[in-house]
Amino acid sequence: MLKGAMVGFGFIAGKGHHPAYLARKDVEIVAIADVSAARLDAARAAAPDARLYPSWRELLTKETALDFVDVCTPPDAHAEIALAALRRGAHVLCEKPLTTTTAQAMELLAAAREHRRVVFPAHNYKHAPVVKFALDVIRSGRIGSVRAVTLNTFRTTHAKGVPEWRTDWRRDRKTAGGGIAMDHGSHSFYLTFAWLGSLPTHVTAKTLTLDRQWDTEDNLNAVLTFPTGYAHCFLTWTAGVRKVVYSLQGKDGALVIDDDDWELTTGVLSGKPRVEKGSIASHWMDASHTQWFDSLFDQFKAAMQSGDFVGRELREAVACVQIIETCYRSSAEGSRELPLPLDVLEI
Ligand SMILES: NC(=O)c1ccc[n+]([C@@H]2O[C@H](COP(=O)([O-])OP(=O)(O)OC[C@H]3O[C@@H](n4cnc5c(N)ncnc54)[C@H](O)[C@@H]3O)[C@@H](O)[C@H]2O)c1
Repeated sequence: MLKGAMVGFGFIAGKGHHPAYLARKDVEIVAIADVSAARLDAARAAAPDARLYPSWRELLTKETALDFVDVCTPPDAHAEIALAALRRGAHVLCEKPLTTTTAQAMELLAAAREHRRVVFPAHNYKHAPVVKFALDVIRSGRIGSVRAVTLNTFRTTHAKGVPEWRTDWRRDRKTAGGGIAMDHGSHSFYLTFAWLGSLPTHVTAKTLTLDRQWDTEDNLNAVLTFPTGYAHCFLTWTAGVRKVVYSLQGKDGALVIDDDDWELTTGVLSGKPRVEKGSIASHWMDASHTQWFDSLFDQFKAAMQSGDFVGRELREAVACVQIIETCYRSSAEGSRELPLPLDVLEI
């Protein structure tokens, strides 16, 4: 039985992670910290046996037998909490974005290595059933080598946090570290790594703020250059519809995903293309993505058990933060293409 603590018991913790822990037989959430008294009440209702704390520092001081800490606060606090947990000897599962700066991400990576504890990001979109299907299609060779991918993420508004705390924290730069690029960029970027089979070398980006009452961007256009192709990522909080539309363009065909629906074209090189269509229930509308959590946690557990402290997932999380940071710089410099200097596979 793994003993875990949760820090931040808001939307993703309460609706996503905790219900998934309850359904597992190998995890016991023994402690929960949240700065909001109302959220501690919610934690008490969901986990009557857990010890509750108004501060994560107190939790980490008093809870001395934790296997892992699950960090579910807004991004500005991720690095400090994760570092403190590692120093107390706990493994860390951390919501995206891992941190709000590359320097913090590198500090976490170094601490994982020093303390011999896993840091694992919640890169849960990889675990959506239709996204797993996309990887199967690539591996089958049916669309040939993938040279370009497009990832459109349409949202009609920013995601809201629980009403008991600061529901619009995602539009506050200090708390969120940025706007939609910081909040959602990771999901698109780690999918491009999987689909193009490598990490990007350069990025050019344009951020826009259409809803000007906030100090964070609500639209991002980014083009990532890879050794074997490119990715175009468009993220918006000002769309007229909520959905994802992804396309993977291969030498011999293509896969287009529209939420659960997919359309696969194969045999283009033969001059007789074949089109298949289907649908895979992936629960995109449930923003807690609680159905995807189990297989993500299985990977975290495997990393803890095998001592894979600085694994591929952590390196990809560092790469995501570097791309987000570089998107902001590129946009500020007139969308100039900028190199991504840090080779995360080498650190
Ligand atoms: N992977 C996903 O699909 C996904 C989906 C939603 C949210 N998230 C991520 O989860 C994190 C939380 O987002 P959310 O939507 O649950 O937000 P939320 O506002 O609903 O919850 C945040 C909770 O953290 C608490 N909190 C704030 N500062 C704290 C601190 N210093 N110590 C302890 N508790 C603190 C708040 O009281 C609140 O209960 C963010 O990093 C977000 O990006 C990921």
